Amino acid sequence: MNLFRTKPLYPLAGNSQQQSLRKNLGALDMVFLGVGCIIGTGIFVFTGVVAAKYAGPGIIISLLLSAIACAFCALCYSEMAAAVPVAGSSYSYSYTTMGEIFAWLVGWSLVLEYSLAASLVAAGWSAYTTGLFKSAGFEIPKAFTAVAADGGVIDVPAMLILLFISILLVRGTKESATINRILVGVKLMAVFIFLFLAGPNVNPANWSPFLPFGFSGVMTGAATIFLAYIGFDCVATAAEECKRPNRDLPIGIIGSLVVCAILYMLVAAVLTGVIPYQNLNNAEPVAFALRQIGYNIGAAVVGTGAVAGLTTVLMAVMYGQTRVFFAMSRDGLIPASICKIHPKYGTPHIVTIVSGIIVAVIAGLTPVDIIAELVNIGTLLAFLTTAIGVLILRKTAPDVHRPFRCPAVNFVAPAAILCCAYLMYSLPTQTWIRYSIWMAVGLVIYFGYGYRHSNLRQSEKDTVSKETCIIKG
Ligand code: ALA
Repeated sequence: MNLFRTKPLYPLAGNSQQQSLRKNLGALDMVFLGVGCIIGTGIFVFTGVVAAKYAGPGIIISLLLSAIACAFCALCYSEMAAAVPVAGSSYSYSYTTMGEIFAWLVGWSLVLEYSLAASLVAAGWSAYTTGLFKSAGFEIPKAFTAVAADGGVIDVPAMLILLFISILLVRGTKESATINRILVGVKLMAVFIFLFLAGPNVNPANWSPFLPFGFSGVMTGAATIFLAYIGFDCVATAAEECKRPNRDLPIGIIGSLVVCAILYMLVAAVLTGVIPYQNLNNAEPVAFALRQIGYNIGAAVVGTGAVAGLTTVLMAVMYGQTRVFFAMSRDGLIPASICKIHPKYGTPHIVTIVSGIIVAVIAGLTPVDIIAELVNIGTLLAFLTTAIGVLILRKTAPDVHRPFRCPAVNFVAPAAILCCAYLMYSLPTQTWIRYSIWMAVGLVIYFGYGYRHSNLRQSEKDTVSKETCIIKG
């Protein structure tokens, strides 16, 4: 039984070169792209939850540590994305470097990450939308806007937005670069308005004690808030469109991480300085804080910016999920029928709608903290394997063309591996239990279907039968 068969690198890279993209993106475009994909629930929802539950005002340090870990991962990711620019990201990288069983595990983990990230962002979207309705005088009953753990029954707005986005994705709606820029601008404006209005109301007494849950709380906070930085992979996957990937890619990735890290830390500092951290366990903390200090209109403006920003992140995440499924079905690991292309719209409609419904049900019923921890663990595994993949590929394919090379790879890749492993270890035991169940289900599917139907297995069988014929002949 060959569980470690690898996909050859050259056909993979070759596939993508067939349709080469126009190289018209500069360093600033890349930074914009990154900021557009990164800023979302992490800042608009999780700063509050993580401060209240794990880190207190020490969330500022959690954000810094997560950003450093992310920067190491991002450099490795960039090298892989530029050398193996194909759909499926970490799943495809693991397939070429570590073998099929690892690729399956990473792909299965990515499915969890993207599906739950979509549920999570939708929950944030619902909280801000409900808050906006409330400010306008229309209060939707809590039973229909919150999950049971938060005193409701079902989160209907989160479900509706997910179904709506799934329909848009089936119809192949793509945001144009201009719309994306406008929405990124609106999102940034929301953040700046918050800092401008709430900043002068900071009461430094709220920062004391700074580490109410000790340093372990800061580390659990860092592992939980990690998802705030997810999205830099958008920059890495645009490697082919970069005018000068060697220069623009690292500037785009590191630049967007730095911009987001600074904004996140400022928002966290202001939020915990304005509202005592114990009161921040709120699904729309940024608007909530503004309302608490009397800025009702400011809260509505910031809330609108958050809704716009979260919608773009939602589209990116749901699109990403279908791409991973697509890559897995193309390799024969899941049935091709699931990823059938719609004759009119040219999109994988079945997988988009089915996963839209599943994700909507999850978002409608599951508390966000459980979802967030699973998103993080799935992402951390994907980043960790990508860093291992970079080291393997440097040894197994030293001469392959690398438009971007990770600097000081022998330090950066092991640092990324250690950071991811440590952050995974810092996540609660319950998360590990839930994650293990998910991965066990994945293994059952792999051994029940994927292993036997894998394209690589078919070609192995073909080779063996040809050899047998030659020997017999
Ligand atoms: N980074 C994205 C967010 O915070 C996933 O919503």
